[in-house]
Order: sequence, then structure tokens, then C-alpha cells
Amino acid sequence: MTSMYDATVPVVENRPLTGGHFLLSLYSPRQAQATRAGQFAMLRLLDRSDVLLRRPMSIFNVLSGSAVSPSCSLGALPAPTRRDHRTRTHHTLPPRVPTKPELIQLLYKAVGRGTRLMAQLKQGDKVGLLAPLGHGFFAEEYMERARAAGEVLHVAGGIGIAALLLPARELARAGIPQRLFFGGRTKADLVGVEEFRPSVSAALLATEDGSRGHRGYVTGPLEEHLERHRNKKFLLIACGPWAMLEASAELAGRYGHPCLVSMENRMGCALGVCLGCSIRVVGGGHGAYQRVCTEGPVFWADKVVWEKRIDANELIQSTHTQITQKEEK
Ligand SMILES: Cc1cc2nc3c(=O)[nH]c(=O)nc-3n(C[C@H](O)[C@H](O)[C@H](O)COP(=O)(O)OP(=O)(O)OC[C@H]3O[C@@H](n4cnc5c(N)ncnc54)[C@H](O)[C@@H]3O)c2cc1C
Ligand code: FES
Repeated sequence: MTSMYDATVPVVENRPLTGGHFLLSLYSPRQAQATRAGQFAMLRLLDRSDVLLRRPMSIFNVLSGSAVSPSCSLGALPAPTRRDHRTRTHHTLPPRVPTKPELIQLLYKAVGRGTRLMAQLKQGDKVGLLAPLGHGFFAEEYMERARAAGEVLHVAGGIGIAALLLPARELARAGIPQRLFFGGRTKADLVGVEEFRPSVSAALLATEDGSRGHRGYVTGPLEEHLERHRNKKFLLIACGPWAMLEASAELAGRYGHPCLVSMENRMGCALGVCLGCSIRVVGGGHGAYQRVCTEGPVFWADKVVWEKRIDANELIQSTHTQITQKEEK
């Protein structure tokens, strides 16, 4: 277990991207250095008594402030270089890793009250950050399964991409071949993909409206890949909407591959107390439920009971909605 810190941290940059997405860079060396792939943060807007709950966000990236030149805005998603392009077709080189990261980057989409207020944050503003939280991806067992697979397939739906960059970097450092399947409603949703180029051999894109890549869900090209390479061993790592996770889990099960899912249930405390984030897992009694914030957010897909939501969770979620509605008044 790594340490978790509750800190007030300054905004270095809040960069608008396409489709209502933003890349928020926060200066927090202690939290950045404690972060492991797959963990998340709870962000609190300060001086806003009308926004009660912290908002959970995957830790998209950690990087050193000095690794970015002053002329280039911190946190910019670099365009692919010629070398990036070459690694895309001829396999993975270990990507540049900051030895002492100082910045935490959150990649988020403005969807409601809290994230719309986040979008207004400016350089020098301060936010409350509780991080890093949850178990990361790479407990020893996960890495062993990744090594046993011929290739790791990342499956991202929309902003789910934010949970997958750090694991992709870690797998690249271990020399494990990887491929990214990334889907969104429209091309403006396909943000952050360039950051993956040095770590993956190929990025297969899909949009529901056909504006970029395959037309339809990302699980279409994923299924084609699994069908075409029936004799290969894969490990799937998925993050995105519930339906996409369920479909990825179903495909993994059908083709006989292990699958890890990073869940994004609504959260209250993120400290294991309120039970608002619980999911049903295989097992009985108390063991039938696990908390996404503390036992997750990463789970083996075949351990998750893929029913839409448990009643207790619905209750907490409706409480969350009521609090949000109160905040909006
Ligand atoms: C572990 C975890 C990691 C996350 N990582 C990211 C991330 O990296 N980037 C990012 O943009 N978002 C991420 N989310 C989702 C993010 O927390 C919500 O979008 C955010 O809390 C919404 O707050 P709001 O006040 O803007 O919206 P609200 O006013 O609370 O809700 C607005 C809309 O957003 C939907 N929504 C709210 N919470 C969630 C949720 N948890 N999952 C899906 N839809 C939700 C609501 O159904 C509603 O339609 C993550 C969630 C979890 C639990
Ligand atoms: S959010 Fe409170 S227990 Fe997980």
C-alpha cells in the first residue's frame, strides 16, 4: 500500500481540449511520487460551500515540471514525433519516465456541476486533493498475468482513457507488447491518445458517429482482433462506461482471456466508509460486495456480477443525485 495524502495544491495549468475535455496539471510532488498505475484522486473545490462532495478522477499522468520546457505549456499532449511514429509500427520502446514526478495530471470531461466548475480553474488557484487512492493495477499477480499474455489489449471508452496511461507506461517499461482500442461518441472524445503512442504498437480508434476510425462501438474492432488471433494469449484491461466494461468482460470470457476492469462508480467518501461505491462480486455473505474505492477500482472482470446496479448502491446514488441537485440550487 502506498501512502495517501490530503493536501491543498496549486493549479499549474487547466488546458481545454476538444469536446469539453480538460487536462488539469496540479503541483504536488509528494502525491505524484506516491502514485501507482491505476490509482485515483478525489478533488475538492475550495471556497465552494455549494459543492459538497469531492469528485473522483483517475490519475492520468505524473510528470516532472522540469521535463516540460517553459515555452511549451505544462501538460500539453505532445504531437507524435517521427520516433513515436516508428515505435507505433515496430514495437514498443520504454517511454520517458520522470525520475521525480512533481505534477499530477487529471484528464476530465465537464459533464455536470462539479466538473463545469473545475473547468473554470485558473493557474495559481488551489484545490483540495486526496490522493493517491485505491489499489493500483500492478499487484504482483497482475504483472504475472500480463507477462503470461502475448499482448495486453487496452480497451478505453470515452474518459475511461484517463485510467490507462500509467499502466500502459508501466507495461512498456516491462517490455510487454500492447495495443490500444479507444472509442468515443465522436472524434472530439478521442483525447489523450497521443500520449499512448510510445507505449503501444497500434491505436485502433472507433466513434459512434463514424467521424474517426471504425464506425460503432470500440468492442467491434476488439472482437475482430480476438477472432483473427484466436491462438494468441491476451490480457484485456478496460476502463469506460458500465456497458462497455460488461461487453469487454463478455468478449474476454468468450475467447478465454483474462480481463481487468477499472470501475468508475459514483463515490461518496472514497475511504471505504459510506459503501456508496459497492459492487456485487462472485461469492456469498459479506464477501458478495466490494467497495470500488478501496478494494478497487481495478477488478478481475470474471469476479464482477454484471448486473446494472445493486439496490444499496442505487440508494446511495440517488442520495448523491439529491445532494448534487441541492448544490445546483
Ligand atoms: C474511480 C473514478 C475515476 C474517475 N475518473 C475520471 C476521469 O479521469 N475523468 C473524468 O472526467 N471523470 C472521471 N470519473 C467520473 C467523474 O468522477 C464524474 O464525471 C464527476 O464526478 C461528475 O461530477 P459533476 O459534478 O460534474 O457531475 P454530476 O452533476 O454529479 O453528474 C453529471 C452527469 O455525470 C454523470 N456522472 C456523475 N458521476 C459519474 C461517474 N462516476 N461515472 C460516470 N458518470 C458519472 C451523471 O450521471 C450525470 O449524467 C471517475 C469516477 C470514478 C469513480
Ligand atoms: S465511496 Fe464511500 S465506501 Fe467507497
